[in-house]
Amino acid sequence: MKALILVGGFGTRLRPLTLSLPKPLVDFANKPMIFHQIEALKAVGVTEVVLAISYQPEVMLSFLKDFEAKLGVKITCSQEREPMGTAGPLALARDKLLDGSGEPFFVLNSDVICEYPLEQMIAFHKQHKGEASIMVTQVDEPSKYGVVVLDEDTGLVHRFVEKPQTFVGNKINAGVYLLNPSVLDRIELRPTSIEKEVFPGIAQEKQLFAMVLPGFWMDIGQPKDYITGLQLYLESLRKKSPEKLASGSNVVDNVIIDESASIGQGCLLGPDVSIGQGCVIEDGVRLKHCTVMRGVRIKKHACVSWSIIGWHSTVGQWARVENMTVLGEDVHVSDEIYSNGGVVLPHKEIKANIMKPEIVM
Ligand code: GDD
Ligand code: MG
Repeated sequence: MKALILVGGFGTRLRPLTLSLPKPLVDFANKPMIFHQIEALKAVGVTEVVLAISYQPEVMLSFLKDFEAKLGVKITCSQEREPMGTAGPLALARDKLLDGSGEPFFVLNSDVICEYPLEQMIAFHKQHKGEASIMVTQVDEPSKYGVVVLDEDTGLVHRFVEKPQTFVGNKINAGVYLLNPSVLDRIELRPTSIEKEVFPGIAQEKQLFAMVLPGFWMDIGQPKDYITGLQLYLESLRKKSPEKLASGSNVVDNVIIDESASIGQGCLLGPDVSIGQGCVIEDGVRLKHCTVMRGVRIKKHACVSWSIIGWHSTVGQWARVENMTVLGEDVHVSDEIYSNGGVVLPHKEIKANIMKPEIVM
């Protein structure tokens, strides 16, 4: 089977992290976001993943080369000259997706995280015999998403409305599709949206079916949702593979710590913390609801909560970093500094307190 991941978009809402790497390569729970998806695809027998890219393809490909060998999945790239939207890239990659087998292929948005119940999706697709399957999930604020109105018993989609202005329903498109090759005949080679121009038509012909996604789901394309997504992901890890979580008297609830990280004496870690490769957490540090990416040093008695600390940054002694502070790559926060929601661009030194949420250039 084949799969295509939509990895375009500039990831502006996840700046400053996306100033260093394309969004799919930003770490989530100690590995690049896109690894979660490729691993799930591989697990259900996908042998080739096509990355639909509209910018920085070199960075993506060189990064994924090692991974290709390790996982045994072929990773290829379909590069757009101009952004082709969410459907145009499928037309562009048509020849890569059609292998003559007639099998359906997966299409994934790259900025969502869930348990990827892809095996169940394949079974659902076979059973309803329609042209296309999509996963849906329930949310409180459906207006920022694609809303799907479906028959609860059969899954038949009656309507698909992208970013509705008025309330249509609260089941939304989760950004995971399984499509028959015939769907490609419905897509023209031009910038076009699968949500606005393709799905409504398939729904009208009663060929679009939706399956309610079991387990959690989150679009992690902005810092607040990223932190919520981490909490949901770790909770699901607790149920599925609790051995991957850290344990000990200094750990509160769900925490993951890369085995190469070093943790000092008298720290208190958790809930909902990920500590990446090679991190050094010095004595007496307090971490909760935060991500500490590869190569970070948190100095003695610092406290970090509800924040993201980008690659190779340092947080000084007795510093206090909180309230959705996001430090870009290689940011250095001096000793005893306070950051209340500072969004700090890469390679900066922070020597004065950041008293209210603001961008520090
Ligand atoms: N290759 C390519 N080219 N990819 C693109 C382009 C493009 O021009 N534009 C967007 N993408 C990718 C994004 O990187 C993302 O992975 C996916 O397509 C969806 O685009 P977003 O910009 O993230 O859309 P959204 O979050 O507003 O809405 C989409 O996702 C929701 C779930 O998170 C829609 O699919 C909604 O229906 C859905 O509910
Ligand atoms: Mg999105």
